[in-house]
Amino acid sequence: MPFIIAIDGPAASGKGTIARALSAHFGFHHLDTGLLYRATGAKGGDPVLAAQSLCADDLTGSGLRSAEAGQAASRIAAIPEVRAALVDFQHRFAAQEPGAVLDGRDIGTVICPHAQVKLYVVASDRVRAERRAAELGADPAEMLVQLQERDRRDSERAAAPLRPADDAVVLDTSTLSVDQAIALAIETVRKAR
Ligand code: DC
Repeated sequence: MPFIIAIDGPAASGKGTIARALSAHFGFHHLDTGLLYRATGAKGGDPVLAAQSLCADDLTGSGLRSAEAGQAASRIAAIPEVRAALVDFQHRFAAQEPGAVLDGRDIGTVICPHAQVKLYVVASDRVRAERRAAELGADPAEMLVQLQERDRRDSERAAAPLRPADDAVVLDTSTLSVDQAIALAIETVRKAR
């Protein structure tokens, strides 16, 4: 049976960095599920059709990491039919041996509720805004407003809202260096193996 690590959390909490590091450390496949929603939003047109026809090439678009693509992704992610269209792909990805790390908003709660390890990665709003601003070369105050708007939409939607699974380990990266956060995550996974 493949080993599954589910990582959820709000935007810019550090979950992507931790997911990549865990996949490299344990030799597991990694899927950034936010990219599926970003690519769906970026295709334009009917979001349900866009999600149903999503292919690997769509995931390589250069503008997918922008703040605008994040907002568009968050909006179409609230549509239940969009989410339903992306479930199979995520399940197939998670079934790969020897294991997989998936990061997103609903991995531990909806996509992989039986994951052996669930991490819920958080950081203070200020720290997250500063991180994302540095990454994108943007204004931290503007990033803060955008992140809060996105988190509110992602947490308040009816379909698979952002929330920790009951059995998730919460990892607050606000005051941790990248190396410290990764070390803690590796330790959590090691204990569960
Ligand atoms: O992780 P990210 O910032 O790339 O995600 C972009 C948006 O996609 C996020 O604001 C909400 C949506 N999303 C989701 O609803 N469920 C996921 N598993 C991953 C992302």
